[in-house]
Amino acid sequence: MTRIAARQRPLCRFVLLFLSVLFAAIFFSAAQGVYDEPWRPQYHFTPAANFMNDPNGLIYYKGEYHLFYQHNPQGAEWGHMSWGHAISDDMLHWRHLPLAIPEEPGRFMIYSGSAVVDWHNSSLLCSNTDPRDPSCLIAIYTAAGPDSQRQNLAFSNDRGRTWSNYSSNPVADLHQPDFRDPKVFWYEPQKKWVMVAVFADEKQAKILDSTDLKKWTLRSTFGLPGAGKGQWECPDLFELSLDNNSRAANKEWVMVVNRNPGAPAGGTGVQYFVGTFDGAKFTAETPADQELWADYGKDFYATNSFSDIPAKDGRRIWIGWISNWRYANTEPTKLWRGAQSLPRVLRLKTYPDGIRLVQTPVKEAERLRTKQLLHGGRFSIQQANNEIHAANVQGDTLEIEAEIAPRVDDEIGFRLRKGPHEETLVGVSAKMHELFIDRTRSGLVSFSPDFPGRHHATLHWTSPVKLHIFLDRSSVEVFANDGETVLTDRVYPSPGSDGLELFSDSGGSQVQSLTIWKLGSIWK
Ligand code: FRU
Repeated sequence: MTRIAARQRPLCRFVLLFLSVLFAAIFFSAAQGVYDEPWRPQYHFTPAANFMNDPNGLIYYKGEYHLFYQHNPQGAEWGHMSWGHAISDDMLHWRHLPLAIPEEPGRFMIYSGSAVVDWHNSSLLCSNTDPRDPSCLIAIYTAAGPDSQRQNLAFSNDRGRTWSNYSSNPVADLHQPDFRDPKVFWYEPQKKWVMVAVFADEKQAKILDSTDLKKWTLRSTFGLPGAGKGQWECPDLFELSLDNNSRAANKEWVMVVNRNPGAPAGGTGVQYFVGTFDGAKFTAETPADQELWADYGKDFYATNSFSDIPAKDGRRIWIGWISNWRYANTEPTKLWRGAQSLPRVLRLKTYPDGIRLVQTPVKEAERLRTKQLLHGGRFSIQQANNEIHAANVQGDTLEIEAEIAPRVDDEIGFRLRKGPHEETLVGVSAKMHELFIDRTRSGLVSFSPDFPGRHHATLHWTSPVKLHIFLDRSSVEVFANDGETVLTDRVYPSPGSDGLELFSDSGGSQVQSLTIWKLGSIWK
């Protein structure tokens, strides 16, 4: 028996080795498969499975960016809301971590909110005994019960890996069933915490303050009489330099309210007001008759800006959910639903008609470039298309930078994800002074009557117009004129519809410069 066993040993070893290689191959291809489905964004964050909506608690702490998000761990439609969690060292390449804050079944769900670093342990919830660093992470979220919405704290003393609910929750309760989405920040001039949260149906932002994150006092209400239809959700409040001038006198505050519905493209969208903040009250300087929107596409909502980006970096960066409540539960992905935008840097710029929010993708996004496919300029439309053809430029993950000079009255731009019967148009209308995305014939559009359409925004007209386009497997983000005007739309083209070309109604317009990169996957 021993002899037989001895003879079999090499065979056993071979079989074992064979099986482990086979299992590794199956595991690897399954893991690959999950982030390789036809409409799976390659460089925009998506959960491996199930439903996701708002980004929550965006924060930088000890070398890591944290992305929490509204997540249904049990299915691909909204429900059982909990905080999902991922970390990254560049806001682009994310690693999934276990669920951070699960719903409390039968009691409440974990709705949107924010996170802060409690640097000096003002909450006394930080248990690190090192006097040089008493800090910990605190999450402030809405505990959403059947008839109540209140603000709760959860804390983590291990760099966000595990979370405990504070034992004396809730910390803020205004006895209102639609009081939600707290965004908390440190207000240095008065050395205190400030919270902005909404009364959603009343379309009001409530401003509260606290010295310890546990006891909150209501200080003021920001609202506009007759503020249009729908709800206000996910507010944010932050200070930005104006026109790149960082002197204190050149700063303005921005109040962000996410509106559901009422956005220019229909459904949900991000509105903002520019004004002043004295620690207790926000006063809008944006005239009441001006509606300012951060993004004129149909799929940019529920923004959350990062907390605790180091002062030497100094950027204000936000992420939005790239969907729309009009069809968020019916988008045609099955395993997972919902994606997050590229992180975008926010600035304020003065234009002849007032101060506007300007957004550009974070410079870290250059790390996504895997190959320059084309670089040239001074092309006619025909020449540009010949170059694109000669270089065999096509694909579903591309970054395009172009300066285009339209002839008067022309409509010019790109046909993206072009296939036999489909295309997504991104262009400018010189006649209308407009930037647009037209996804009417972009592929699968029939899952919602609200999906197909053309979405547009007026540009402060200059020629050439600069376009910066990020195409992923099921999304298009367009930043025009250095982020002055932004449009974000999801698209669901057929696999293989990967063509790219320029179009121009008159044929006479010029492409002054054109650079195209292939972008890689963040999951490989
Ligand atoms: C915004 C929102 C928030 C709420 C969350 C629930 O999309 O409706 O107001 O906290 O989603 O998932």
